[in-house]
Amino acid sequence: MKEGICSIQSQFDVDLKECQSAKSVEALKVHYLGRKGLVQDQLKNLRHVPDAEKPAAGKMVNDLKEYIEGRLDSALQECILREENSRLAQESIDITLPGRKNPIGSKHPITDILDEMVDIFVQMGFSVQSAPEVETEYYNFDVLNMGEDHPARDMQDTFYVAPGVVLRTHASNVQGRIMETTNPPIRVICPGRCFRNESISSRSHVFFHQIDGLYVDVDVSLQDLIATLTQFIRAFFKKEVDVKIRPSYFPFVEPGIEVDISCHLCDGKGCRLCKHSGWLEILGAGMVHPQVLRNVGLDPEKYSGYAWGLGIERMICLRHGIADIRLFAENDMRFLRQFPAP
Ligand code: PHE
Repeated sequence: MKEGICSIQSQFDVDLKECQSAKSVEALKVHYLGRKGLVQDQLKNLRHVPDAEKPAAGKMVNDLKEYIEGRLDSALQECILREENSRLAQESIDITLPGRKNPIGSKHPITDILDEMVDIFVQMGFSVQSAPEVETEYYNFDVLNMGEDHPARDMQDTFYVAPGVVLRTHASNVQGRIMETTNPPIRVICPGRCFRNESISSRSHVFFHQIDGLYVDVDVSLQDLIATLTQFIRAFFKKEVDVKIRPSYFPFVEPGIEVDISCHLCDGKGCRLCKHSGWLEILGAGMVHPQVLRNVGLDPEKYSGYAWGLGIERMICLRHGIADIRLFAENDMRFLRQFPAP
């Protein structure tokens, strides 16, 4: 038996030397230590050994087993390490390269400023409503006292999507929708995109943004309107801005006003943005016309209200010193990157 064990061990040494891969080491393991392997055979042979010699013979087989196990383990480790190293060498990753950065986006300046303005109005007690950008003529015009023959309905100003359906020309389309469905007091703002068929220039574009406001209750006055707007302008610019209020005309308000603020892009001296006047018109407003109240089923004897429509683009121009509103629509990264995420 002793010879048998010795020859298994020396055969194993020869076999192991030939093993070059983890796979062949595994195969060798099965061959020697597996259930039908050579070591197992030796264990079975112990049955035929006389009792007196059994302990010594058993120890020999055990020693052989431990020897083979030990050598196989270290051979396996070596092979795995060698294979891993050669794989890494082939992949040749340059671990000194800096990692790729995920570019971080930021809000478009228009969205950013809309959010800021909405916050101010919400603090003043207005709630935010939305109205469709694709709108019926009824809510864009008729309910707002703009009869069929009103010049604003001319094809030159309005994009028609289908007969009777337009791209809203102002955010005032929210007014009829809200007043029809809500009982006063109503105090809402409607921020959003509007469309007009205008020629594109540094001061006007085919789409732009407005925040419309509407307040309907008993005893609402023009003074309330002016106070609200002045307060808003101060809160937004965080400094004293000269405000000029001019009488104006919109079919859905009476009286109507327009509000100009001093152009601090040029400090009132005159520039492209303010058409060299030193003043920028930023909004139209007025007291809700009694006919509009009647159109939505509210009694003008009982209720009064004010409404405004504020243009966003010019406010952003003033805030950031931008003299051309076309930049907002061009998606030029050199422009947009100047408004990084806070
Ligand atoms: N909707 C008007 C415009 O776009 C502005 C406006 C709103 C005027 C509300 C009066 C009242 O020009």
